[in-house]
Amino acid sequence: MQITLETKPYATLEADALVTYVFEESDPLQGHLLEMDQSANGLLRKLVQSGELTGKTLESTLLHVPAGLKAGRLLLLGAGKREQFSGATLRKIVGAAIRSLKAKGVKKIAFLVGEKEANDAAAQAIAEAVTTANFETDKYKTDKKTDKQIESLAIAGYPDSMRASADAAISRGRTIGEAQNFTRDLVNEPSNKLTPRVLGEKAEAMAREAGLAVEVLDERRIADLKMGALLSVAQGGPEPPRMIVITYVPAKANPQAPVIGLVGKAVTFDTGGISIKPADGMEKMKYDMAGGATMLGVMRAIAALKPNVKVICVVPATENMPGGTAQKPGDIQTSMSGKTIEVLNTDAEGRLILADGVTFAKQLGATALIDAATLTGAIVVALANVNVGVFGSDQAFTDKLLASAKAAGEKMWQMPIDDEYREFIKGSFADIQNIGSGKGGGAITGAMFIKEFAGDTPWIHLDIAGTAWNDDAKPWLAKGPTAVALRTLVHLLMSY
Ligand code: BES
Ligand code: MN
Ligand code: ZN
Repeated sequence: MQITLETKPYATLEADALVTYVFEESDPLQGHLLEMDQSANGLLRKLVQSGELTGKTLESTLLHVPAGLKAGRLLLLGAGKREQFSGATLRKIVGAAIRSLKAKGVKKIAFLVGEKEANDAAAQAIAEAVTTANFETDKYKTDKKTDKQIESLAIAGYPDSMRASADAAISRGRTIGEAQNFTRDLVNEPSNKLTPRVLGEKAEAMAREAGLAVEVLDERRIADLKMGALLSVAQGGPEPPRMIVITYVPAKANPQAPVIGLVGKAVTFDTGGISIKPADGMEKMKYDMAGGATMLGVMRAIAALKPNVKVICVVPATENMPGGTAQKPGDIQTSMSGKTIEVLNTDAEGRLILADGVTFAKQLGATALIDAATLTGAIVVALANVNVGVFGSDQAFTDKLLASAKAAGEKMWQMPIDDEYREFIKGSFADIQNIGSGKGGGAITGAMFIKEFAGDTPWIHLDIAGTAWNDDAKPWLAKGPTAVALRTLVHLLMSY
């Protein structure tokens, strides 16, 4: 898909559809809309008077062969109240417009930005949104929607003087949107197509193409390095585990910046192991590798965007199967760090593989850690599918991440990690146990377990169990993988 900046007057743009937005205010016809109403002999005014055009969020009004415009259609989307307008609203509007128009077979779209919103951040957000809205999950369908892809989007409403910076913003937005789609493609793969081995191959191919250093450790290297926690999860089935390591080295690192270790959980299928999950809904557990896929997508994006910070990405990958060789409740494992773990529930496997992932990232030189994982059902209870759960041991670092989440338009909410919770996972027969002792706070005990391995290294944990998968198709987002947290992490890395 082509995404361009078009500084010609919007009325002269030849597109299948011109899209713009309407604010919900006492008179919704302002600026461009007032002009459009005049050249269409008061048509928009009539719609306002009849109550059809109000500007309520995502209200959609489609006009054909609008008078005064070269475009074949005019699509007006409600943007809600002007005071509440944000990058997140803009992304939803763009996404909803693209998805509804592509369903009608529209190929060429122009998106008109209001004068007050015409800035670089908006251009980037539009490019991201159009790229992710064009994504479909029909890879394994015989009848694909690929013939319905949008071919071009022209962003209009910018003065010529902004061209250079807006073009750069569009290019960043496209890079980030494509990285999100790369992540979503991985997450969408079923577990029979995407085993830990295949994930390793795909990570290697991506890194090679992006020009990043990559190493995929096989089961022998993993055993040599004594990654006992990862191995304990992998031993339940015949598919061997992988430990994926990708490194980005900047031309010139910011001397103030830490070496960031990104650790992503990649359980390509989570049956629960011997503590097996109920059959109902188990098919969704193919997305239990979303944390790892997100980190791989971040690396893909930064290879092009080139932040001034060194990044080491570590993705432990395995299945969690209940085979005859599987670990059993009560088993005691020795992690790479040397800490012993009592596995009281084999379904709390994500924290086990992250324990070794975090230890390895530190050993490779990371001085600040961020992990992302579909870790707990408890975070879904606490925050539903709205907010990512954020846990952090260093408040300044955590605040920086939360600020990036805001800027990137992703909802995240900080959760507590008081010392009192440490008691919950104190081991009876080993150093630590992998579940809390029935006192609630399930998302927190998961985080506390990982924290134990991060030690004194500043660390942030993102529990994306509720947010990495979209259960119901939204006007702006297909059902399925969301690649949540990718934009925030890219923004954070670019801020050094
Ligand atoms: N992958 C699951 C968490 C999960 C649940 C992800 C729902 C997405 C949606 C994780 O491995 C798991 O099974 N966690 C257990 C932990 C429990 C045994 C302490 C859970 O949340 O039930
Ligand atoms: Mn599990
Ligand atoms: Zn899991």
